Amino acid sequence: MKQFLSPADLGDLRKAFQEAIEIKNDRYGHVELGRNKTLLMIFFNSSLRTRLSTQKAAMNLGMNCIVLDVNQGAWKLETERGVIMDGDKSEHLLEAIPVMGSYCDLIGVRSFATFDSKEKDYSEAIIQQFIQYSGRPVFSMESATVHPLQAFADYITIEEHKTVERPKVVLTWAPHPKALPQAVPNSFAQWMVAAGYEVVVANPEGYDLDPKFTAGATITHDQDEALKGAHFVYAKNWSAYEDPNYGKILSKDMNWTVSAQKMALTDNAFFMHCLPVRRGMIVTDEVIEGPRSLVIPEAANREISATVVIKRMLEALEK
Ligand code: CP
Repeated sequence: MKQFLSPADLGDLRKAFQEAIEIKNDRYGHVELGRNKTLLMIFFNSSLRTRLSTQKAAMNLGMNCIVLDVNQGAWKLETERGVIMDGDKSEHLLEAIPVMGSYCDLIGVRSFATFDSKEKDYSEAIIQQFIQYSGRPVFSMESATVHPLQAFADYITIEEHKTVERPKVVLTWAPHPKALPQAVPNSFAQWMVAAGYEVVVANPEGYDLDPKFTAGATITHDQDEALKGAHFVYAKNWSAYEDPNYGKILSKDMNWTVSAQKMALTDNAFFMHCLPVRRGMIVTDEVIEGPRSLVIPEAANREISATVVIKRMLEALEK
């Protein structure tokens, strides 16, 4: 595997799940695979779970790990081509990337959408430059439009907890004070459809996601209707995708907060969220602390999803 952005990069999801469970039962079983190999993790944005779980995954596989926070201690990087660099950016990404690639065997990149340009965000301009110029396998640790390590962990968590073969999985928008990227909901919808689940995406009007990611899901603007019969409820905020409002907040409607009343509409559904979460906005304390909340096992599975992905990339290096 040379890159990891989508479920297609992983191939058969059932096989990937089985591999995840094998790793969960013996997470140091491949500790020789990464001997004398180095993972470089590059963060353009903050992280708790991704930073810790991916580093732990690399350690499970016996790798060395270098973490670079681009905005803390590195030269400020120019990402646009053709500019006269007379401002505060000292180094161009086009030199920085191959230099970084020369110090490692694999690269993970976190680089969120900036909302400056929908075209630039949806072309995944930053991570694609790493893929093109680093000479190394590259995986997304949440890039502009996708968060595949999260969606893979979500898939593992649902497979572990489902009680019917094809559960109803509802992705619901919920209010948030800041404009957030669409990466998590894009990947969640894409992976849940790829898993073969019944997928419903509920959001207020104006918040429909890129159909490229939701193809195969039912889209509705009626949250209560969507929640009926749900086995899993995945809450997430995102900003508007559609033009001319790309990246904007159109609503902070607290009627979309996931509460005990909302969960009562479901078929005793599990509650999921990728974290970090704004309590009282996205979800009530009662729901997130309740017995059907999966937010902690879901976050713990980030170590497992990252171990599978890094293991696959290390195995490909040996071929
Ligand atoms: N869910 C997730 O990616 O968390 P972090 O932003 O803390 O890494």
